Amino acid sequence: MTTSSQPDHYNVVVEARHINFWFGEGDLRKQILFDVNLRINPGEVVLLTGQSGSGKTTLLTLIGALRTLTSGSLIVLGQELLQATRRQQVSVRKQIGFIFQAHNLIPHLTALENVQLALELYPDVSAAEGRQRAADLLVAVGLEHRMHAFPAKLSGGQKQRVAIARAMVNRPRLVLADEPTSALDGRTGREVLERLVLLARDYHVPILMVSHDPRIVDLADRNIDMEDGSILPDSSAMFSAAELATEKALVATSRP
Ligand SMILES: Nc1ncnc2c1ncn2[C@@H]1O[C@H](COP(=O)(O)OP(=O)(O)OP(=O)(O)O)[C@@H](O)[C@H]1O
Ligand SMILES: [Mg+2]
Repeated sequence: MTTSSQPDHYNVVVEARHINFWFGEGDLRKQILFDVNLRINPGEVVLLTGQSGSGKTTLLTLIGALRTLTSGSLIVLGQELLQATRRQQVSVRKQIGFIFQAHNLIPHLTALENVQLALELYPDVSAAEGRQRAADLLVAVGLEHRMHAFPAKLSGGQKQRVAIARAMVNRPRLVLADEPTSALDGRTGREVLERLVLLARDYHVPILMVSHDPRIVDLADRNIDMEDGSILPDSSAMFSAAELATEKALVATSRP
C-alpha cells in the first residue's frame, strides 16, 4: 500500500479524482463529465459501459492524453495530466496502445507492415526485432496465415485483430479500447475481445475497454458503468465514499 505522504505514482495505472469536463464555450458550454473518480490497477481488465452519450469516449480520450484535462486530477502511468506539458502528454500517449472502433489500417500496407509501422515512433527497436515482434503478435491473434494480406482482403474481425496486434507491439503499459468490436457480429466480436484479453493477461497489460455488449462482462475483472457523465455509485470504481468526500474538500480548496 502507498500512503499519501509517499505516493508511488509510477505504479499507478490510472487514478482519476473529481474529473469534471465541459465541451464548448460561452452559452454552448455543456458539462459532460461530473465528478468522475476511478482507479485501474496493474494487470486489471476493466469494462466501461453506459448508454450512448454517457461520456465513455470523452473519459477514454482524457485518460489517453488525447484531450486536455481542465479540472480534477488524473494520473496516468505515473504522470499527472492536469496542467501536463505537451511533451508529457506525448510521453503518456506513447506508452498506451489504442484500439478504436474503426481499425484505421493503412490500405496499401500488409497486415505485418501495418503492425510494424506502429514501431516507427520507437527508434530503439531495431527493424529485425520489430518485424519479429509484429509477426509474433499476429500469430498470437491467430493471423499467421494472413500476415501478408492487405486490409481489403481481410474480414472485419481479422482487421480488428491486426489493430489489436498493432496496439500491443509497442509493449504498452496500458491499452485503451473504444468499442473495438461494435462493427462485428456478436460472436466474432467476442472472439476478437477474447484474443485481446488473453494477450493482455499474458503481457500483464491493464485494459480499459468500452463496450455496449453485455455478453462480454465475464471477460473483465470489473465493470464501471456510466450514466449521463457520472459513474454509477454501485460501480466498482474502487474508492470509498469517505475517501472521496475528504478529497473533494481538498481539491475544492486547492483550486485557483
Ligand atoms: N467534440 C465534442 N463537442 C461537443 N460535444 C461533444 C463532443 N464530443 C462529444 N460530445 C458530447 O458529449 C457527450 C458524451 O459523448 P461521448 O462521445 O463521450 O459519449 P459515449 O458514451 O462515448 O457515447 P457512444 O456510446 O455513443 O460512443 C455527448 O452528449 C456528446 O454529444
Ligand atoms: Mg463513444
